[in-house]
Amino acid sequence: MNKTDMIPHFTHHILCIGAGYVGGPTMAMIAHKCPQYRVTIVDINPERIAQWNSDRLPIYEPGLDEIVKAARGRNLFFSTDIEKGIQESDIIFVSVNTPTKTFGVGAGMAADLQYWEKTARQILESATSDKIIVEKSTLPVRTARAMERILFSTQNGVRFEVLSNPEFLAEGTAIQDLEQPDRVLIGSRQTESGLKARSTLEEVYANWVPQERILTTDIWSSELSKLVANAFLAQRISSINAIAALCEKTEADVSQVAKAVGMDARIGPKFLNASVGFGGSCFKKDILNLVYICRYYGLNEVAKYWESVVEINEYQKEHFVMTMLSAMFNTLAGKRIALFGFAFKADTGDTRESPAIYIATRLIEEQADLVITDPKALVNAKADLKGVEGKVQFVEDPYEAAAGSHAIAILTEWRQFRELDYERIYRSMEKPAFIFDGRNVVDHTKLYQLGFNVYPIGKPVLTHL
Ligand code: NAD
Ligand code: UGA
Repeated sequence: MNKTDMIPHFTHHILCIGAGYVGGPTMAMIAHKCPQYRVTIVDINPERIAQWNSDRLPIYEPGLDEIVKAARGRNLFFSTDIEKGIQESDIIFVSVNTPTKTFGVGAGMAADLQYWEKTARQILESATSDKIIVEKSTLPVRTARAMERILFSTQNGVRFEVLSNPEFLAEGTAIQDLEQPDRVLIGSRQTESGLKARSTLEEVYANWVPQERILTTDIWSSELSKLVANAFLAQRISSINAIAALCEKTEADVSQVAKAVGMDARIGPKFLNASVGFGGSCFKKDILNLVYICRYYGLNEVAKYWESVVEINEYQKEHFVMTMLSAMFNTLAGKRIALFGFAFKADTGDTRESPAIYIATRLIEEQADLVITDPKALVNAKADLKGVEGKVQFVEDPYEAAAGSHAIAILTEWRQFRELDYERIYRSMEKPAFIFDGRNVVDHTKLYQLGFNVYPIGKPVLTHL
């Protein structure tokens, strides 16, 4: 008897279109928590599907391997047959990418909805029975209206109900976030059929999420809340980074300021770590999208306010490069610099919009020789810097990266980097040896005592020079 025979009847056939950072983990969690459902994930990219079906999953996420491998072939399936997937399912999540548009009207700001619209048309073409369509991707407010216009254009009697169910997981903690979400948000039309579809989706999550954490709203509020949540999170980082720059001028310590400010229960302590800047595929794109929508509605001051969150982030990355340049006697040409970390945050191999890409490119412009080390992101780092002219090496071992270097720049807060033997590293480096801690993760006083010239973010510099 094979595994499927043990579950004779699936109560829902769930499909997810888009096997990416969101589609893969989210559906794996549903399959894990709900053995009574059959969950299929499809993608236009056959390589990605082959990886999901292999021992080496296409994304690194702590805890993901275990739940995928346990459910795969039982009630979790990865496939390229999108048409069949659509036909067999009653609930379809759409989790395709919605990047910033690079061409035409709204280039550099608006969301590029071409992948989104293609899935809508494909659903329309292939569906032979009624479906609930769930917007999982992050979308401009009022996208559901466009989706409905496409889907409702059919004359074949098939009925669709569109729901908004944005995803709030963060990379590196996706499994934990999915297992114990702060909230699950479901937006629907307030019609009889809309409310019925909404309760069907609520039942799916209620298999493991407590009822009080499932929040239901109208569909536009749900779509907009996702953009706003990301804008607020990014705003906190830009706020603390702006204050870090002021700390550097006034000998205040940004960690102490963040602690004092964050202890106010109205402000809260999370997401106040000053850094080299935020990265990731979403913050910048979602804020720019929000800015674009505000401008579209003529709200220019509102647009400007949110745009400044991105501007401070750009400033922060350049400020880090300028700190390195001026500390190292205004020339980096021919100097070996070790970049510790390339991922946009720890516990992921993802490098999309990583501040490391900007910083590496700028250091190469200054003719520095780069040696990049990262526990999970070297493959992506190579792809990101392909075509950039200059000397760049990629090495697994941070000790090898540091040996012979003039400086280390810590760009990702990997735990491994806190635990290195910095005495050994110091001995192997050119002198004077510099360390630029773009994440404030190492013990600055200890490194100074070892002989390093230490440049944290938003704290007094510790230098022997
Ligand atoms: P991704 O690029 O990793 O995955 C998207 C997948 O969709 C790709 O594999 C692509 O091949 C596939 N695809 C595109 N068009 C398709 C089509 N017509 N048919 C079938 N497959 C198609 O993107 P992601 O990071 O998973 O993000 C997806 C959405 O979720 C975005 O809107 C993003 O803003 C949002 N989001 C992402 C995160 C995150 O942490 N990455 C978190 C919350 C929300
Ligand atoms: C973020 C949000 O946290 C998720 O809720 C959201 O679902 C997701 O975007 C999305 O829509 O894609 P993610 O980008 O994966 O998740 O990771 P975060 O933990 O938010 O970190 C984003 C960036 O901010 C990283 O570069 C991180 O290093 C940086 N950061 C974070 C700081 O510089 N300081 C902090 O205090 C926190």
